[in-house]
Amino acid sequence: MLKTTSTIAFLSVLAPLCAAVVYDATLDALPLNTIHGYVIVRGGVAGSVVANRLTENANVSVLLIEAGPLLSWLGIPSTYQWNYTTVPQLSASNRSISYPRGHILGGSSAINGMVYDRAATSDFDKLANMTGDSGWAWESMLTYYEKLETSGPPADGHNITGQFDPSVHGFSGPLGVSLPGYSQTLDSLVLETLNNSSFPYNEDSNSGNELGFAWQVSTINNGTRTTAATAYLADNYLARPNLDVVVNALVTRVLASNGSDIDTIEFHAVGNSKFDQSVHIATTLTWSSKATNLNVEASREVIMSAGSINTPHILLNSGIGDNATLSAMNITPVHYLPSVGQNMLDTTVIYVSWEVNSTDTFDALLNNGTARAEAFAEWNTPRTGRMANGVINLSGMLQMNESNPTVQSIHQQYSDSIAGSNDADFEMWFIDGYTTTSNSTYFSMLYGVLSPMSRGSVTLNASDPMGPPLIDPNYFASEYDVLVMRQALLTGFDFVSSEQWSSYLLEPVNGLAEVIEAVGTSNFTAMDELMRNGVQNGAHLVATSSMSPYGADWGVVDPDLRVKGLNGLRIVDASVYPFVPGGATQLPTYCLAEQASDVIYCLAEQASDVIKADQ
Ligand SMILES: *[C@@H]1O[C@H](CO)[C@@H](O)[C@H](O)[C@H]1NC(C)=O
Ligand SMILES: *[C@@H]1O[C@H](CO)[C@@H](O)[C@H](O)[C@H]1NC(C)=O
Ligand SMILES: *[C@@H]1O[C@H](CO)[C@@H](O)[C@H](O)[C@H]1NC(C)=O
Ligand SMILES: *[C@@H]1O[C@H](CO)[C@@H](O)[C@H](O)[C@H]1NC(C)=O
Ligand SMILES: *[C@@H]1O[C@H](CO)[C@@H](O)[C@H](O)[C@H]1NC(C)=O
Ligand SMILES: *[C@@H]1O[C@H](CO)[C@@H](O)[C@H](O)[C@H]1NC(C)=O
Ligand SMILES: *[C@@H]1O[C@H](CO)[C@@H](O)[C@H](O)[C@H]1NC(C)=O
Ligand SMILES: *[C@@H]1O[C@H](CO)[C@@H](O)[C@H](O)[C@H]1NC(C)=O
Ligand SMILES: *[C@@H]1O[C@H](CO)[C@@H](O)[C@H](O)[C@H]1NC(C)=O
Ligand SMILES: *[C@@H]1O[C@H](CO)[C@@H](O)[C@H](O)[C@H]1NC(C)=O
Ligand SMILES: *[C@@H]1O[C@H](CO)[C@@H](O)[C@H](O)[C@H]1NC(C)=O
Ligand SMILES: *[C@@H]1O[C@H](CO)[C@@H](O)[C@H](O)[C@H]1NC(C)=O
Repeated sequence: MLKTTSTIAFLSVLAPLCAAVVYDATLDALPLNTIHGYVIVRGGVAGSVVANRLTENANVSVLLIEAGPLLSWLGIPSTYQWNYTTVPQLSASNRSISYPRGHILGGSSAINGMVYDRAATSDFDKLANMTGDSGWAWESMLTYYEKLETSGPPADGHNITGQFDPSVHGFSGPLGVSLPGYSQTLDSLVLETLNNSSFPYNEDSNSGNELGFAWQVSTINNGTRTTAATAYLADNYLARPNLDVVVNALVTRVLASNGSDIDTIEFHAVGNSKFDQSVHIATTLTWSSKATNLNVEASREVIMSAGSINTPHILLNSGIGDNATLSAMNITPVHYLPSVGQNMLDTTVIYVSWEVNSTDTFDALLNNGTARAEAFAEWNTPRTGRMANGVINLSGMLQMNESNPTVQSIHQQYSDSIAGSNDADFEMWFIDGYTTTSNSTYFSMLYGVLSPMSRGSVTLNASDPMGPPLIDPNYFASEYDVLVMRQALLTGFDFVSSEQWSSYLLEPVNGLAEVIEAVGTSNFTAMDELMRNGVQNGAHLVATSSMSPYGADWGVVDPDLRVKGLNGLRIVDASVYPFVPGGATQLPTYCLAEQASDVIYCLAEQASDVIKADQ
């Protein structure tokens, strides 16, 4: 990775001089005869960032192509997702687990839990070490974290002194973020526990030191969700004449139209004639492989930003992968790169719940239409109340207790675990309700193993390679993840065992009572069953297009994110992270894309053909 500040101009054909154009592939004549410098596949977090940053230079033209619709509306119904499901998870009671991913401009930032975690210094220093590229070290990433955000006031306007450290935050970037904007009864219980125990409070878990319990920042601005589209593809950016965006267009392959350089993408329109122009909502989205394929060319690069599932899906269908596997599916191998779709990692997540002695939880929003309507009215004007808030107000990031002999033996047995020196082994969220509808009130905790060792894959479905891929996170395949999750649960039970909680927590639900009964014994049967029966998608898939050093015989991209051995093709999305950067992957993906934009810009500037063209 090489970055300079030189200002040599790009060669690129100017896009048509029309403003704020979003083309709908199902309805509009598309700008296919305009050669764009860069074609970006999908407008999720990374694609939106790169499209925005590259087009800051009026000489650079970009075409962004997104499978889902543009949604100029506030709520995000569940229809805007890919409806993915994992293959049966052999180490998780053979369950197929639902895996929602955003199918919309903005990608999964439009459907996620809005959790803002930057990960720890050691995550990025480890990445720099692993790739041999110091550009990925924390110090470098921090400048992009500060550049990308506007840290705004919380929805309720409360005084946030002591709840975050302004010296490590940004106040003029595209992404609006804020601290919790609605005070919950639960918050004081957590804070009292911190006051009366040795569990540490962390004033800002995004300073590089993520360890401890902290107020949770969310991608919320003025009580409203911020998505990659609302932030980076806002109308003033879409108005750039050098940026074209096409929605309802499903990319199927990347191609080399002449010679060996990838320079073309193949796609087709998806959606149907019921597309509602006034609100930009397509009522039916499909995977249709019968639609007519169209091609569009990039004069510089094709940038894959389709995410950890769809990026490998498209590469494999393009013949980039393992020759034998592809040939067996009648796909002509184009480039041997067996790591494509392999090495998948995800945060391993479970929830536990108790009924509570309180009527003040968010459960009523799920099961009481009147309460929901009231909360919605409060959100509508003036953007306050429970609906203006994120999923959690307080959360903890912890390492296993080194003084515990069980933990010592875990470390001894799994010395190749990739946990770094100051990144957390597990996270713990305090949730003010239950995750499904029911008529009672609840308290839930989410536990996540943040440096899991279970690796899975994304592969093509042999009977329909262009259709939904086989997604196998392989949860709990490694015993290490089971052992860390046990420590997480035991720590959580310890947290809520204090006096403050005794009159708040009532009955544990869904088999939790049996687990708690066995705490203190060496019988983990009930606990392990709860984990394997309960594991949910972690929503943090990474490593399916992993970065590795130049010349490494594993991995998919070099540290500058170019696909190994190919010209013209780069991957900018969460799939290039070789491990889960501790915590939610949303912010590390924004940050990666910010840095990648600079790398793309500077490398292009130095390319000899550009310099030649300028002379
Ligand atoms: C764009 O290209 C023009 C003509 O080559 C050049 O004068 C100008 O400096 C370039 N702008 C940027 C921002 O590079
Ligand atoms: C897991 O589920 C699959 C698909 O439902 C089934 O074919 C397989 O036999 C199951 N395996 C076990 C160990 O139950
Ligand atoms: C990575 O860290 C190891 C252990 O500290 C060190 O020996 C090695 O030189 C580092 N590699 C790079 C590329 O920084
Ligand atoms: C917020 O609280 C801090 C510490 O209590 C105090 O110094 C500061 O003046 C308060 N700010 C506002 C705007 O009230
Ligand atoms: C925790 O302790 C601090 C300092 O003693 C005090 O100001 C605060 O009110 C306490 N918080 C709770 C929730 O008990
Ligand atoms: C917040 O949103 C409300 C409702 O749309 C709007 O009236 C208000 O101007 C917004 N405030 C800011 C600071 O953007
Ligand atoms: C996912 O399922 C919903 C509800 O059935 C549907 O509306 C939507 O079109 C599906 N998404 C895709 C990408 O097929
Ligand atoms: C895989 O196929 C490509 C394209 O035909 C060929 O260039 C390459 O040598 C093959 N590699 C292996 C390891 O089979
Ligand atoms: C539903 O919510 C309304 C408004 O908050 C409340 O008055 C009513 O008692 C609730 N209904 C039930 C069954 O809890
Ligand atoms: C909740 O209560 C309502 C009204 O009493 C009832 O119709 C509904 O079935 C109950 N739901 C559940 C999940 O128990
Ligand atoms: C519920 O909380 C109230 C005080 O808030 C307390 O008096 C009561 O004993 C609690 N109920 C149970 C079942 O713990
Ligand atoms: C361990 O716990 C399980 C589940 O609660 C129970 O069925 C089993 O009998 C226990 N084993 C022993 C040795 O106590």
